[in-house]
Amino acid sequence: MTTVEQIGLVGEGVDRVDGPLKVTGAADYPNDFSYPDLAHAALVRSTVAAGRITRLDISAAQTSPGVLAVITHRNAPVLGRAPDTFLSAPPTPLQDDRIHYHGQYVAMVVAGTAEEATAAARLIEADYEKTEPILDIHDPRAELITDPWGLDASRGDAEAALASAEVRFEATYTTAGNANSPMGLFTTVAAWDGDALTVHDSTQWPGSLRTALARVFAVPESGVRVLAPFVGGGFGAGLRTWPHVILAALAARTVGRPVKLVLTRPEMFTGIGHRTETVQRLRIGATRDGRLVALDHESTTTLQMEGNNLEPCATVSESAYACPNVSTRDRQVRLNITWCNSMRAPGDAQGNFALESAMDELSYTLGIDPIELRLRNYADVHPQLGLPWSSNALRECYEVGADLFGWSRRRPEPGSMRDGDWLIGYGMAGVSFFWYQAPCTASATLRKDGTALVRSAVTDIGTGTWTVMTQLSAELLGLDLERVTFELGDSDLPPGAQAGGSGLTAGLGNAVHAACRNLVQAFLDTVRDDPTSPLAGCALDEVGVDGGRIHRTGSPERGESYTDILAAHGLAELTADGASTPNDPQELGLAPAGPFGARFVEVRVDPELGLLRLARVVSAIDAGRILNEKTATSQIIGGTVGGIGMAMFEEIVTDPGSGRITNATFGDYLIPVNADVPDMQVVFVGRPDRFNPIGVKGVGEIGLVGIGAAIANAVHHATGRRIRSLPITIDRLL
Ligand code: MOS
Repeated sequence: MTTVEQIGLVGEGVDRVDGPLKVTGAADYPNDFSYPDLAHAALVRSTVAAGRITRLDISAAQTSPGVLAVITHRNAPVLGRAPDTFLSAPPTPLQDDRIHYHGQYVAMVVAGTAEEATAAARLIEADYEKTEPILDIHDPRAELITDPWGLDASRGDAEAALASAEVRFEATYTTAGNANSPMGLFTTVAAWDGDALTVHDSTQWPGSLRTALARVFAVPESGVRVLAPFVGGGFGAGLRTWPHVILAALAARTVGRPVKLVLTRPEMFTGIGHRTETVQRLRIGATRDGRLVALDHESTTTLQMEGNNLEPCATVSESAYACPNVSTRDRQVRLNITWCNSMRAPGDAQGNFALESAMDELSYTLGIDPIELRLRNYADVHPQLGLPWSSNALRECYEVGADLFGWSRRRPEPGSMRDGDWLIGYGMAGVSFFWYQAPCTASATLRKDGTALVRSAVTDIGTGTWTVMTQLSAELLGLDLERVTFELGDSDLPPGAQAGGSGLTAGLGNAVHAACRNLVQAFLDTVRDDPTSPLAGCALDEVGVDGGRIHRTGSPERGESYTDILAAHGLAELTADGASTPNDPQELGLAPAGPFGARFVEVRVDPELGLLRLARVVSAIDAGRILNEKTATSQIIGGTVGGIGMAMFEEIVTDPGSGRITNATFGDYLIPVNADVPDMQVVFVGRPDRFNPIGVKGVGEIGLVGIGAAIANAVHHATGRRIRSLPITIDRLL
């Protein structure tokens, strides 16, 4: 059987299996689904951030053309609640008159067409009894939650070590709220058949959505089917069951017809969560020769009034460096803001900006090259667990990245490199990303025509999951790629993990690995007592697979094809299931490693005009075994663009009086466009990871991490100005 060292997919730039469907428009996104007799819903949102609804006049809307129903908290049925987990649903909408944020849904209109629903929604009048919203992260009235996830960490005595350190550094960093902004407007199409519900949705986790909807509507989970074969971008926004999804299902139940609900772009800013704002204080103690003796990282993030959000920022400082005295603390403050939620590298994106900016500042204080400072504090073992890493090529990331970038050409003095009016800056940041893997299952079937069908209820949100799992299945079964179909995006398939936390390739990949091994075992079981089979009596570790055949290891001629075995035993197909659960670090004696990276950027700054231009980005990434270099590279490139947005453009602006997001359109909320995105080079280094049998780590999120610090560090190198707040906009540079 193929072992981890034999899986031969490294470096293969296989095209996306779903690429032709996407570029020809044949891929059906949630918005593309329709039903006969489809009705449409439109939403009405609160225009205050805190208080109660005192009056809702729906009479004009009710008599507006085409209107089938107007639903508010006054006439909505009492609904259930989804499980109260980190990634499940916010409180069920339209259940009472309380308002917690500007943009909260207060009514829904269902009509024959989308235009009729939208027009009628505008006729609804609402009055509110306002209370003064709490909107500022520094507002002393805001409820403060300490250690919300039990992830605060400490070792040694950071305070004492800070007090006695030869060199002390302290600074506060801030990052703005960011909006996920997937291109695909989140859409739900819901259709009931009795107590059975079918939902097409922009979800990253069909299984979780199914559970949530079953609980909310008190129907059997087995009758709820969630379909999401194509998702128009997610980045974390699709991990929760958002209120509009529940409302679409409620609308369909109310009018007895299938209903489609498409969020508008402004509704995307209030309805699908956002990356929290942060305030982070870093304190570092070091020796004069650059050894960290103390690291203290306290982060405060924002949180909506109800429910939770998992977004640890300070945890990045726990394991990034071999510092003996460390304290990391995360805190949240509750505000009258829209839902805070995962957005590509939640927590790490902001935490890394603070830590890697602080390390850069320290490098100037000490007069040590930024890479050298990091190498002097290199964590050879996991500094908190004390266990060897399951893999760690961060040192190679620094070396290979620096080489490719030409770091040696950097003159250390800020402001010393220039090209005409432009000041040139080189900046870098290291990345130690968190490890995550969720439990997952898959099934694998081999059919008498020699093709395989491998299945799991996961989604491919554009990351390439579909492609790499097809490749992996083909490799593990010894089949050509064309003979393997991977099926996903359907909650009726074997339960799958979320496409999130950069953990799907490992979680699903290991489930596929198990399913394919079990399938080969099922074939061996079939021929075990067959004296005519060259494989009779063979164990799994005595065989290999290739060309649609199983053969004895070392003797390719002594084997049998899958199709011959099926035919000889009168079988139409064989199926096997596989499951993966993460290993136990202590049992394995290994600290599970996430991906590592080193990011290098060159910026150009015109100090008189406050212009900041990114000239190039070089990324060296250790993500363990790379299943498909082409799609993995795309992940890093895409993540880098997200990082550029966070560093230079993206900022949710909230009106301090009303709590309204004032820039909730693509005209006002800036995200990088092609002209903002320079040449980007990506190189993968490292070896297969030892924590899971297929040797992979995630590439979904690390691409975003480190770009903020690398750009801020490059801006400092170019200008001598230290910008500790993202995004670095013109006003902050002038
Ligand atoms: Mo990602 S924020 O885990 O989709």
